[in-house]
Amino acid sequence: MSLESIKYQRGSLEVLDQLLLPLQTIYIKVEGVEDGWKVINKMQVRGAPAIAIVGCLSLAVELLKDETSDKKVMRQEIEGKLNYLVSARPTAVNIKLAAEELINLANTLSADENVSAKSFKERFITCIENMLVKDIEDNKAIGKFGCEAILKQLEGDSQVRVLTHCNTGSLATAGYGTALGVIRSLHKTSRLEHVYCTETRPYNQGARLTAYELVHEKIPATLIVDSMVAALMHARKITAVVVGADRVAANGDTANKIGTYQIAIVAKHHNVPFYVAAPLTSIDMSLKSGDSIKIEERPDKEMTHIGDFRIAAPGIKCWNPSFDVTPASLITGIITEKGVYAPNNLQEILPP
Ligand code: MRU
Repeated sequence: MSLESIKYQRGSLEVLDQLLLPLQTIYIKVEGVEDGWKVINKMQVRGAPAIAIVGCLSLAVELLKDETSDKKVMRQEIEGKLNYLVSARPTAVNIKLAAEELINLANTLSADENVSAKSFKERFITCIENMLVKDIEDNKAIGKFGCEAILKQLEGDSQVRVLTHCNTGSLATAGYGTALGVIRSLHKTSRLEHVYCTETRPYNQGARLTAYELVHEKIPATLIVDSMVAALMHARKITAVVVGADRVAANGDTANKIGTYQIAIVAKHHNVPFYVAAPLTSIDMSLKSGDSIKIEERPDKEMTHIGDFRIAAPGIKCWNPSFDVTPASLITGIITEKGVYAPNNLQEILPP
């Protein structure tokens, strides 16, 4: 059975506490927007698509309990709550785009005299619920397109070896995964010889979450420390790198977990194709380039401690940006649910 980070039934939402993985599997109840904000901000739920879905579902749960029967009040509350949810983490764009879409829907429903307050609520909640289904469908399409693109990269070699960074699997999405979805699809073809996943310091999404998913799915995989990427590419022939994205700018520059940029540079040096797998909901056409992407900085403790145990010299200063931006020039292709696009060609799928 595949891992489930989000358990939802109308009126009830639970998320798997990713801070406790891989050692404990404990679900946290999300009773409304305040809880939704907290689980996102504390990183109990992570990954750009999962953040968006959990944030919006927390609003759906809260709305169901809301007794308001005035559409204008509902519209106002929805806008305020969505903006609050967007503030929980700044880099991933999916929640911002979802919020904009939902605010537009609330505006339309509230202005339409033929829509009752009851029907407003019903249609609004259904729209949020559809995000869960759509994300899984999109991930499967990404998996298929990514698998085809990577198989085309094989030169006389019949087996694929891929490297991935951070977590992009079932835990980071509604299910199946983006970059890990591509890996899952490759595995189904029996052409996948091996996956290498980075530890992903300082928060260890690779060691804790991706490694956990790969073991769970019985996909042949090896964990490496982030600083081993160049050595790995020198020692073993890697067919392709595939990573996820938190925000892709209009020119293809891509913000993803810290460390992604240096992997792309190393891949270029070794002539290894570098793919970003991301749904269209991760593409922010309002930003011209990656320079305008806001990068979240996290507490020093993530670097200085392992759990509660201090490993860094007391007194040392730290810099802990959680994401970096890989320039489009280092990206071979962006794998979306609509196909694989050159990073400088995103206008083709998302015209301005
Ligand atoms: O800080 P996190 O754990 O939320 O960061 C997650 C990542 O950077 C993922 O690689 C990205 O969101 C892609 S998720 C499919």
